[in-house]
Amino acid sequence: MVFTKQRKQHNLQCGSVFFSVICCYVVDFGTVFTDHMLTVEWNANEGWQSPLIRPFGNLSLHPACSALHYGVQLFEGLKVYRGNDGRLRLFRPILNMSRMAKSAERACLPAFDQSELLECIRRLIEIDQDWVPHSDSAGLYIRPTFIGTEPSLGVRKPAHALLYVILCHAGSYFDTEVRALSLWADPKYTRAWKGGTGDCKMGGNYGGTLFAQYEAGSCGCQQVLWLYGEDHQITEAGTMNIFLHWINEDGDEELATPPLDGIILPGVTRLSILELTKKWEEVKVSERYVTMGQLCSALQQQRLMEMFGSGTACRICPVGSVVYQGKHLELPCQEKHSLSSRIATELADIQVSRLTRARTIAT
Ligand code: COI
Repeated sequence: MVFTKQRKQHNLQCGSVFFSVICCYVVDFGTVFTDHMLTVEWNANEGWQSPLIRPFGNLSLHPACSALHYGVQLFEGLKVYRGNDGRLRLFRPILNMSRMAKSAERACLPAFDQSELLECIRRLIEIDQDWVPHSDSAGLYIRPTFIGTEPSLGVRKPAHALLYVILCHAGSYFDTEVRALSLWADPKYTRAWKGGTGDCKMGGNYGGTLFAQYEAGSCGCQQVLWLYGEDHQITEAGTMNIFLHWINEDGDEELATPPLDGIILPGVTRLSILELTKKWEEVKVSERYVTMGQLCSALQQQRLMEMFGSGTACRICPVGSVVYQGKHLELPCQEKHSLSSRIATELADIQVSRLTRARTIAT
């Protein structure tokens, strides 16, 4: 989605171009917020109220509110990029809107008009446009959030809700500047399960993983490689979708990622990678299960080319090692000429509009 830069008279306190250039390199993910935010209230009697764009600030919530007690909430994550032509572009925002609508349905939060919300987000970005980094690859992170504000301890569908959107510097997602991640794979923890909410972007899916994340840290790893089932299927890594580039059991070169079977977050970057690589027609592209046993055999037989994670916040992140059943598995990880670096470059080119063929996947 493209919108033309229209500079208006706004009192930007610190959203300077200088600050946005500095921040996209040195700031941690999600710690520096822009000057404004969008809020829209809803209640069961009157429906949606008028959207407000107001100075960024704290919310005032009833202490019994259902988001705080029962996790009735959800969020989204997308980015806006400044193109070489100076125009600002949201990367595939319609996909985020429809995923958000699905999460809202699952959370028993009210339906909302996706294109109206997108228009409100566009207006918010227009006001804080100076915060969008002048960068070849970095964007400003957009965090739509939807919470139940029901002021009662009853466990039921909220009759009050608040949808709000904040913007922040994406900065550096991982706290160390390593090129490849180390993952800890232990089947004793499960990120998501069939019939659960693992395919929705709800805060509980992430808060519930912190304990395992810190155990991974105590084992010398940065993130958890989430496994599922008796056969230890590889599902996701940390907060990312996961991809394997390998020669599969049939001898075909393949890029594989787990299918959307209810326990996988339908990532926008994941979908874009699948669409791009299918279009290249160079390797077989599959949504299929891969188990730890299959990964270990591929490593042993030198059939693994690389493994990488993908997400809006972290973009594309190669995996350098996996600790599994007491073994430290070193994964091949080339700096250049890997499929992941080619995908990362192509995606960045599309996002900042260096490619005219951006049109083919950007909405
Ligand atoms: C994203 O990649 O946008 C995410 O939502 C991950 C997040 C938990 C930081």
